[in-house]
Amino acid sequence: MVKIAPSILSADFANLGKEIQALDKAGADMIHIDVMDGNFVPNLTFGAGVVKALRSYTKLPFDVHLMVKNPDIMIPWFAEAGADIITVHAEACKHLDKTLSTIREYGKKSGVSLNPSTDEACLKYVLDKLDLVLIMSVNPGFGGQSFIESQLKKISAVKQLCASKDIKIEVDGGINPMTAAECVAAGADILVAGTAVFSGGDYQKNINNLR
Ligand code: DX5
Ligand code: ZN
Repeated sequence: MVKIAPSILSADFANLGKEIQALDKAGADMIHIDVMDGNFVPNLTFGAGVVKALRSYTKLPFDVHLMVKNPDIMIPWFAEAGADIITVHAEACKHLDKTLSTIREYGKKSGVSLNPSTDEACLKYVLDKLDLVLIMSVNPGFGGQSFIESQLKKISAVKQLCASKDIKIEVDGGINPMTAAECVAAGADILVAGTAVFSGGDYQKNINNLR
């Protein structure tokens, strides 16, 4: 059964604790937290302090997506703040193998995110250090963008590359009931959705529709 990870980038930033409780009640499987530094992507969102403040509002896993220029210095911050999965961008890591080892040294699950133009071949030699691959189906930085269809081929290619490994495939960006079906058919295990979960306000209905 596909897992749904609502992105709080689309949530009411003035009531994040309440929003997280509502997502939990609505049946979310994990909470996707989009950390942006205004450098790696042209947007600025939340830091480790916000993650720490939200930690006690739910027992659901915190799926932290670091869209930052220098993820290495931030791994300890988010590990201590209560992240369960820490995902870094391959494009931001000079020493990806080392970075993934560091995430695991903090006892967290390790993820790598690939921007739409990045080839999955960069994962080939770090599969043993990976728990999750986050495939961007939009250019990172904002919610509400359209799904980039070319990424469906990448989902299948990553599925193949990770076959026989216990690596989850997560897709992020432009996910709605239509694109969700395409992604799952291509091999996705987890779907991130912001707009599609928050639009209209009935989170449970929207999450069920995606499933
Ligand atoms: C974009 C973020 C996505 C985004 C998804 O940089 O990584 O998680 O919030 O939002 P929607 O579902 O609206 O495309
Ligand atoms: Zn994200």
